[in-house]
This record gives sequence, structure tokens and C-alpha cells, in this order.
Amino acid sequence: RLLDGGAKPLAGRKAVVTSGPTHEPIDPVRYIANRSSGRQGHAIAAALARLGAEVTLVSGPVAIPDPPGVTVIRVEQASEMLEAVLGALPADIAVMVAAVADWRVTTPNAEKIKKQPGEGPPPLMLSENPDILKTVGHHTKRPTVVIGFAAETQDVENNGRVKLEKKGADLIVANDVSPETGIMGGTTNSVKLITADGITAWPELSKDDVADRLAGWIAERLI
Ligand code: CTP
Ligand code: CA
Repeated sequence: RLLDGGAKPLAGRKAVVTSGPTHEPIDPVRYIANRSSGRQGHAIAAALARLGAEVTLVSGPVAIPDPPGVTVIRVEQASEMLEAVLGALPADIAVMVAAVADWRVTTPNAEKIKKQPGEGPPPLMLSENPDILKTVGHHTKRPTVVIGFAAETQDVENNGRVKLEKKGADLIVANDVSPETGIMGGTTNSVKLITADGITAWPELSKDDVADRLAGWIAERLI
């Protein structure tokens, strides 16, 4: 049945996708976070669903609508994101696009911290967050295809290769997010695909087109 005109090469496959930032509370009104609109991750979730996959999208706080045809789990912190991703296993495909905050405040304040005149800013003690991609890439229930992103401002290829290896991923989609590229928060993306076989550069594409191409790449790997 091809009433929508599309082939469904990922029918019967399960995918888990992370998207957006995480917010790590300092106190009830303040948080630390990475920049992320969620556009690329949401577009990938939608593209996988269009190819027939059953998609769970685990999203941090974003201002964009839920993509059609996917199950969305909304989370705030990295610890919650990890829990939701592990809860979505087993899966055939994991695409970890979220800009997870690398650190959280070790003990967030239960009450709003008040500025104390003359005392200066409060010191913040930070702890490292769990690495969700690395956890999935080395998991006993590791999906067949594990993909990570690498947003870099310098030395994109080398940093991407190191991440591929360290995180146990099959593919790192690396991009240069230097402010002058305008990619952060924008609608286009210029990515390099880094695998154990080498590096392929894609032209500058809309984030939707990057998502469609990536879904196609995944479908080919799973044939
Ligand atoms: N990632 C993750 N959990 C984390 C940190 C990163 O799942 N705690 C994932 C991201 O979703 C992305 C990939 O790992 O797919 C690379 O993220 P990035 O921030 O570039 O890498 P880090 O290992 O955090 O290294 P750094 O920020 O120091 O460059
Ligand atoms: Ca990071």
C-alpha cells in the first residue's frame, strides 16, 4: 500500500532520537544549558518516521512543535534524558542529536539564591553528566546503528574521529558551529560524515534535507 507515494524501508524498525538542549538547574529559576533549537534532531525523528520507523523522540526543552508521527518524551535534565533513552531500548537505531549539558550543578539550591550585596557571586560546584551516546554505544542492548553528532568550532574532522571511537558510534555527523557560520539556530547545516571508512562531506543543505539524507543512509545500513 503506497498511497502516500513513499517507500517504507524502515517499517518494523525501532528508533530512538535525542534532540534539543538539557537544562541543569542551579535553583528553581536558573539553569545551565547548551545552545540548541532542536531543529536538526526533530527533523531526523520525522524523517525516520516517514521511512516507516517507530520513533521515540526524547527531547529537552525546545520552542518548536512536536514532529508528526513520533512518540515524544519531554525531559529537562541529562539524567532524565538518559533514563528515557534506556527505556526506549531495545531499538534498531539510535541517533543522539541533543546538545546535552556536560555538567550539572552538584546540589541545586531548593530555594532561589538571592544576591548578597558585597559577597560576590555564589560558587557553583559542578559534576559531569552521564554521556548518553557513549552509554548507548557500549550497551549490551546496543542498537544496530548508533549515530552521534559533533558540534565543533575548530578541528572538526579530528575531533569527530576521536568521538566516533570513544563513544562506540558507527557514524559521527560533524559540523562547524563557529558563530560566523550561522548554523547554530539557523535552518541549514553543513556536515561531514565520519565513519571508520573515512569522511564524506555533504553540501550545505536545509536541516530537513540533512535529515532525509541521513534517514536514507540509515536505511541502507540496515538492508
Ligand atoms: N552526548 C551525549 N551525552 C553527553 C554529551 C554528549 O549523548 N553527556 C552526545 C551528543 O548528543 C552528540 C555527541 O555526544 O551526539 C557529541 O557531543 P559533544 O558535546 O560534541 O561531545 P562531548 O563528548 O560532550 O565533548 P565536548 O563537548 O567536550 O566537545
Ligand atoms: Ca559536550
